[in-house]
Amino acid sequence: MPDSPVLYVLNGPNLNLLGQREPEVYGRETLADVQARCERAAGKATVVFRQTNHEGELIDWVQEAAGKADALVLNPAGYGHTSVALLDALRTLTIPVVECHLSNPAARERFRHRSYVSAVAAGVVSGFGPLSYELAVQAALGLAQERSRTADRSV
Ligand code: DQA
Repeated sequence: MPDSPVLYVLNGPNLNLLGQREPEVYGRETLADVQARCERAAGKATVVFRQTNHEGELIDWVQEAAGKADALVLNPAGYGHTSVALLDALRTLTIPVVECHLSNPAARERFRHRSYVSAVAAGVVSGFGPLSYELAVQAALGLAQERSRTADRSV
């Protein structure tokens, strides 16, 4: 891993509305606030932080991350519960993927209990509000570092 690793933080649909959308569930911080938290938590790492409401665009970015990122933090939002196509894209990655949610989907409606992303994620951070992202960033960078150490040892 380079001195300044690259971390992709990708966000799915409706997360552009953070701060206004169901604040009793998702809180009052905006997505820009969450981005600032991620950048702080990432230290020297470069953070590529994006949000889209479109499944295909999210998949394009996952594919892009394969060649450009050392790790991926993904809040798939609603697509985590529905998208086999997103799962297929994630399966092509070899970098660590950390799934992240503001709320705790396991404590919510039944349809939120299934996540296609969890099948391929190294781990899931959920339920801590914006702090979930900071923890996910730390985990993703830690995993990327471990991976590069293991790769160094094998040459
Ligand atoms: C979410 C949880 C999902 O169930 C929901 O569809 C979202 C946001 C979260 O961050 O808590 O849009 O991913």
